[in-house]
Amino acid sequence: MAAHGHGHHGHGGQMTPEQQKQMIEQDLRLAKNLGQIKHKIVVMSGKGGVGKSTVAANIAETLQKLGFKTGILDADIHGPNIPKMLGVDLYGEQFNEYQFKVFKEITESGMADKDFKNDEEKLAFIEAKKEEYKHSMFPVVAPSGLKVMSMAFLLDGIDRPIIWRGPQKTGAIKQLISDAHWGSLDYLIIDNPPGTGDEPLTVLQTIPDADAVIMVTTPNVVSQEDVLKCVKMVEMMNIKQIGLIENMAYYICPHCDEKLYIFGEGNGEAFAEEMEITYLGDLPIEEKVSDAPNNEGAISVIDPNDEVSKRFVEIVKDIQKEFIKE
Ligand SMILES: Nc1ncnc2c1ncn2[C@@H]1O[C@H](COP(=O)(O)OP(=O)(O)OP(=O)(O)O)[C@@H](O)[C@H]1O
Ligand SMILES: [Mg+2]
Repeated sequence: MAAHGHGHHGHGGQMTPEQQKQMIEQDLRLAKNLGQIKHKIVVMSGKGGVGKSTVAANIAETLQKLGFKTGILDADIHGPNIPKMLGVDLYGEQFNEYQFKVFKEITESGMADKDFKNDEEKLAFIEAKKEEYKHSMFPVVAPSGLKVMSMAFLLDGIDRPIIWRGPQKTGAIKQLISDAHWGSLDYLIIDNPPGTGDEPLTVLQTIPDADAVIMVTTPNVVSQEDVLKCVKMVEMMNIKQIGLIENMAYYICPHCDEKLYIFGEGNGEAFAEEMEITYLGDLPIEEKVSDAPNNEGAISVIDPNDEVSKRFVEIVKDIQKEFIKE
């Protein structure tokens, strides 16, 4: 993260001219980077631990598998687990090396088209590229081709927490969104931190034109009350297209293949109807799903024939049918 605090505008709303300039420049980068992305989908939940990151990772990999150029942004700065779920572990120094490698590739491919008269001209070209990309963070590309950006990459190790203070937090989230150099994408999936606090709100404010929000819940009432709050917040942000996925809704008996609805059947659908949002279906609880990251990726990639992977293909097609207008 750059030392100067974007989103941190001095005291009492007063900004120095330098801070104002930085903020405007960041907003321009944001508009430029997001402008190349056709569709943005935010994944949210009322409560933590309901499977939001799992759902976001699988939706993203499924879109990529179906032939769409896709990126995933892990906006959870406290618990960024998207890289682990996708099998792209690249922290600190390794990430810096990766950034350098990508920059070098971009610069060299640009140089190949040029006929430099002398070394000075060549040097000037490299300096100009450095200036052009000085704020850019290049997403890491997963084996599937899916582009991934996460705070995790900027940490020295996943077990080393950063202690964020309020304004730094929103600044860091805004910077992740504005400075990721995605190139052109069909879809960007954003894994939002849980709840209705400052951080999920910052994401919605920074991406004001999201095509849809996907709410993830589990079929017990307590977490559904929190979803209700979350839905209200999204509606207040003027996002009208909201879908609900009920995760860990049933268990498939390994002996007889019967679906066992441990917490009761049909809760999610009834709840979605009550809230007047789109029900996108349920997903079973499956050991393979939670185990998939240990095998270097999301279930949709590791085992495309698994029940959950097939459900994700259906869910993605429903999301497109319901929410994506070309
Ligand atoms: N359908 C499922 N079957 C089995 N395990 C699952 C399923 N969905 C999620 N899990 C597991 O449950 C745990 C929590 O899931 P996940 O990390 O995706 O939740 P989250 O909502 O993103 O949590 P947080 O709020 O902490 O970010 C993980 O270990 C994940 O592998
Ligand atoms: Mg998560």
